[in-house]
Amino acid sequence: MDKITLIATAAMGLEGIVGQELRDLGYENVKVENSRAVFEARPSDIPRVNLWLRSADRVKLLVGKFNAYSFDELFENTKALPWEQFISEDGEFPVIGKSKKSKLYSVPDCQAIVKKAIVERMKQKYGIADRLEETGAFYRVEVDINKDEAWLTLDTSGSGLHKRGYRVGQGEAPLKETLAAALIQVTNWRGDAPFVDLFCGSGTIPIEAALIGQNIAPGFNREFASENWSFVSDRYWDAAFEEAEDKAQYDHPVNIQGMDIDPKMIEISKANAMEAGLGELILFKQMQARDFKPVEKGGYLVSNPPYGERIGDRKEVEKTYRQLGGTMKDFPTWSVYILTAHPQFEKVYGTEATKKRKLFNGFIETNYYQFFGRK
Ligand SMILES: C[S@@+](CC[C@H](N)C(=O)[O-])C[C@H]1O[C@@H](n2cnc3c(N)ncnc32)[C@H](O)[C@@H]1O
Repeated sequence: MDKITLIATAAMGLEGIVGQELRDLGYENVKVENSRAVFEARPSDIPRVNLWLRSADRVKLLVGKFNAYSFDELFENTKALPWEQFISEDGEFPVIGKSKKSKLYSVPDCQAIVKKAIVERMKQKYGIADRLEETGAFYRVEVDINKDEAWLTLDTSGSGLHKRGYRVGQGEAPLKETLAAALIQVTNWRGDAPFVDLFCGSGTIPIEAALIGQNIAPGFNREFASENWSFVSDRYWDAAFEEAEDKAQYDHPVNIQGMDIDPKMIEISKANAMEAGLGELILFKQMQARDFKPVEKGGYLVSNPPYGERIGDRKEVEKTYRQLGGTMKDFPTWSVYILTAHPQFEKVYGTEATKKRKLFNGFIETNYYQFFGRK
């Protein structure tokens, strides 16, 4: 097996960033579609992309796709796919599913049919008369039907890629690590200028910035489902971890700070950074945003402040935005990036953004306001 098709799934709005990450990793012909980037690869790329993708949710392997208007078609087309090339004889393979705008809308039925078709195929190919043991490696199969087109995939990641393995503590509204990485990648900060998050909470943005600044693969501290798959050989995993080790620039100096008004959050940030192996690298300190006065030029402020959605919080939050806007006017070489759901953010902050981008923070629709600093 040489060529395979991989799908890097992403939250709505982040697919373009994931596409760019893939191109930066050297993949060509990356097709960016709604909530996913699809690309051609080889089995040895499965470890690489899982280790390196910063803003993707998961990496799935496309086993096949076809039109399915009836359960018979779903069954026969699923059975015709080469499952035995991927799933080992004793593999455990639960099937999950979704369906949108399609004739086959009963997801439990689709799942059951796909399961049955794969079982039949595997029994035939492996020459097993009895039931399959399913005591071995874990392969999560997904049947995703959209406008009558079924995509059958295997999830190579296991838990979502946002689970980097460093979050030992969190606050009330932590940002997903994948979204934090995307917010940083939207800026052109690449490690050489001062970087500050004034509302750091559990430290997600500064930690992701440190990983980017030192070119550390975000997945270095976790495990992946496909580590146990026989067609993704241990050699590929070893090579990918070695490449990650070679490319990491642990000596690259970075100037990253995280502040928060809440001393508890600073403790949590420090514990998370320590877990990520970045304890010495990021300066966390308890501080009110209004006390921020940059001392250097040309820095980047990237923050996810409170949105003021709870009744009673709004006035306080607006005061904070207003003060911040006032402060940053005096530091025109700084670039400021703020993610918020506040509908009048620019008005309260007092400056029109150079650019803005609609993004979802979980289910909350937010805007990412970007104020470019003067060169
Ligand atoms: C939405 S949370 C940030 C979550 C963070 N991005 C994370 O991943 O954990 C907003 C944070 O702003 C802090 N905060 C609120 N008002 C502040 C102020 N005036 N100055 C500094 N921090 C403030 C809160 O304590 C809270 O931790």
